[in-house]
Amino acid sequence: MCKKPYYITTPIYYPSANLHIGNTYTTVAADALARFKRLTGYDVMFLTGTDEHGQKIQRIAEEKGVTPKEYVDEIVAGIKSLWELMDISYDKFIRTTDDYHIKAVQDIFKKLYDQGDIYKDSYEGWYCTPCESFWTETQLVDGKCPDCGRPVEKAKEEAYFFKMSKYADRLIQYIEEHPEFIQPESRKNEMLNNFLRPGLQDLCVSRTSFNWGIPVTFDTDHVIYVWIDALSNYITALGYGNEDTTLYEKFWPADVHLIGKDILRFHTIYWPIMLMALDLPLPKQVFGHGWLLVDGGKMSKSKGNVVDPVALVNSFGVDPVRYYLLKEIPFGSDGLFNNEIFIKKINSDLANDLGNLLSRTITMIEKYFDCVVPAPTAKEAIDDELIRLALDTPGKVEAAIDELKIPEALEAIWNLIGRANKYIDETTPWILAKDEAKKERLGTVLYNLIESLRFASVMISAFLPTTSTKINEQINAEVTTWNSLSAFDGTSAGNKVNKGAVIFPRIDVDAKLAELEALREAQLKATKKTEMKPIKEEITIEDFEKIDLRVAKVIACEPVKGAKKLLKLKVDLGGEERQVISGISQYYKPEELVGKNIVLVANLKPVKLRGELSQGMILAAATDDDGKLFVVDPGDLETGSIVR
Ligand code: MSP
Repeated sequence: MCKKPYYITTPIYYPSANLHIGNTYTTVAADALARFKRLTGYDVMFLTGTDEHGQKIQRIAEEKGVTPKEYVDEIVAGIKSLWELMDISYDKFIRTTDDYHIKAVQDIFKKLYDQGDIYKDSYEGWYCTPCESFWTETQLVDGKCPDCGRPVEKAKEEAYFFKMSKYADRLIQYIEEHPEFIQPESRKNEMLNNFLRPGLQDLCVSRTSFNWGIPVTFDTDHVIYVWIDALSNYITALGYGNEDTTLYEKFWPADVHLIGKDILRFHTIYWPIMLMALDLPLPKQVFGHGWLLVDGGKMSKSKGNVVDPVALVNSFGVDPVRYYLLKEIPFGSDGLFNNEIFIKKINSDLANDLGNLLSRTITMIEKYFDCVVPAPTAKEAIDDELIRLALDTPGKVEAAIDELKIPEALEAIWNLIGRANKYIDETTPWILAKDEAKKERLGTVLYNLIESLRFASVMISAFLPTTSTKINEQINAEVTTWNSLSAFDGTSAGNKVNKGAVIFPRIDVDAKLAELEALREAQLKATKKTEMKPIKEEITIEDFEKIDLRVAKVIACEPVKGAKKLLKLKVDLGGEERQVISGISQYYKPEELVGKNIVLVANLKPVKLRGELSQGMILAAATDDDGKLFVVDPGDLETGSIVR
C-alpha cells in the first residue's frame, strides 16, 4: 500500500551560538509530530538544518582567526550531536553551505531576475566605513554604528530588490481564503494587519558589504540576502533546482513549517511571495509557536538564566526534558521553563503515574504468576470502563495531533494511565491474591493492566521514545503498531515479562534544585570566561596619554527630541561648560544625573548627533546585550580633575 507523504520542517538554525532550551523546543516538537505521523502510517520527511551565511558568522570567524567555513563546520557538528542527544529523528539535515543548495538558490535568484521580479537599484542608508557596513536609521545606536560605535555617514550602495509589493494583494487574498495557512489564528491577524494591509515595501535582497554568502552569478560583487538563501532550503533540500527532483515531487508542498513566532513574518510574507513568483504551491501551514521563557523573562547570557539542554539531559535523561517541553508549554502560546515545576512534574507524571503503573503491574505478575502473563478469562463489568477508554484514546490523540495540540495528546494518554492506576485501587489485586478461587479474576485484572500499559507505550513512543522502548522491554511487547490499538488484545497470554529497573526514580526536589543552582553558577562563570572579548591591540603609554579624561559635573540634562535613546547633558568641566549627547536614556532619568560627577573624554573631536553638537563622551560600563549600563562614577572629586 502506498503511504501518504507528510513533510514537516523546523527552521534551520544559526550556527552563531550555543543552542538553548528555547531553540530546542521547536525541534523537539517537530520530532514528536514526525514520529507520530510515521507511527500512524505516513511516509514522513522531517527536515532540519543550519543557516550558515551572513555577516555575523563572517565577523565571528574573523574574530576567531578561522575561515567562516571552518567556524561553521565545528558548530554544526555540535548542533548535530545535540539533536542526537535529544533523540531527534530528522530524515534530512540541510546546510546552506551544501553545493546543491548554493546552485539551486543561485538559479532561483537568476530566474526571478530574468522575469523582472528582482531588479537592481541603489540602497540608501548609513555607512560605517571602518566596518564596511550599511545600517538603517533604526539600527543605529545613538546615531552611531551599532558594531563599533563610530560615526556613520549617509551613503548609497547598489543592491538588488525583490518586488514584494507586486504580490501583496494575491497573498492577502490567499491568506483570507486559507484560514489554516497561518496558525494559530491570532498570528494570522497580526501578519495581515501589521504588515500586509499597510502595504509592503520591496525587499533588498543582495549585499556587497561582506562576502560570506551565496554570490549572485551574474554580478559577483553581490551576495544573496541571507533570508532568501535560508527560506529556499525548504525546497532545495528536496532537490528543487537540481537534477533529481523525486523528493520534491513527492513532498512539496510541505504539510507544516513549524517555527517560533519571531520568524513568522519571513515565513508568511517573504516565503509565500517567493513561491508565488516561482509559480510553486505554498506550504499548507505555517505554525508559529510561542516563546519559551524562564523566570525573569527571556533567556539571556548576561542574566545568567540560559537553560542548557545538554546539562538538563545529563542530569535528568532525555525523556523528562522532552515531556516537559511537549506537555507543559501550551502549543502556540508562551510557556515557562522552571526547574522546580520541571522536577515536580517528573515526580508526579513520570515517576508516580507512569513509572508506578509499570512497576506495580510487573511486580504483581512476577509475584502471583511467576512473570507469565495470565489469560483474561474472568471478565467483570468494572473492566469495561478501562477497556473502553483505552480503545478511545488513540483516536483522541490523533485528533489532537491533527490540530498540532501536543499537550492535549499527552493529556489523553495520561488520562488512560491515571485510569489504569485507579483500576488497581478499585480491583485490589493483592486481596484477590489471597483467595485461590479468585486466581482467574486476578489474572484478568493483571492482563488488563499490562495491555493498558502496551497501549500507553505505543502511544507515547512518538513523544518519549526511550521510555517507550524501556516499557516494551519490561512488558515484552510483541506488537507495537498503531493499528494494533484497535483491539484490546495485543498482549498474548503466556508471554513472559521482564522485570527491569525503575524507569523514573523519584527525585529529591530540594537536593536537585540545589545541584542545578550550583551548575548554573558554574556555567555562568565558564561562559564569562569563554565569552571574554579579545583584548584590543596594545598601545603605548604615549598613546594613552593622548586621551584627556576629566571629572565633570552634570549641571543640566534633558532628552533629545525625537531620539529615544539620547540624553542631552550640560556638564561643568571646572572653568568650561560643554554639551554632550549620550545614549543612556534607557538607563538614567535626566534628574538622576543632574548633580552627579562623571568622567568625560574631553578631547574627542566634536560630532553632531541628531542635529545636536556633542563635545566629548561620557564613560560608562555596559553589558554586551545592553541589559545594564552604569556611568563611571569618580566620587566627589573636584570638577576638572584629571583621570589617569
Ligand atoms: N536561521 C533562522 C531561521 C531560518 S528558517 C528559514 C533562525 N534561527 S535561530 O537559530 O535563531 O532560531 C531557531 C528557532 O529557535 C526559531 O524557530 C526560533 O523562533 C526558536 N527560538 C529561539 N529562542 C526561543 C525561545 N526562547 N523559545 C522558543 N523558541 C525560540 O531564526
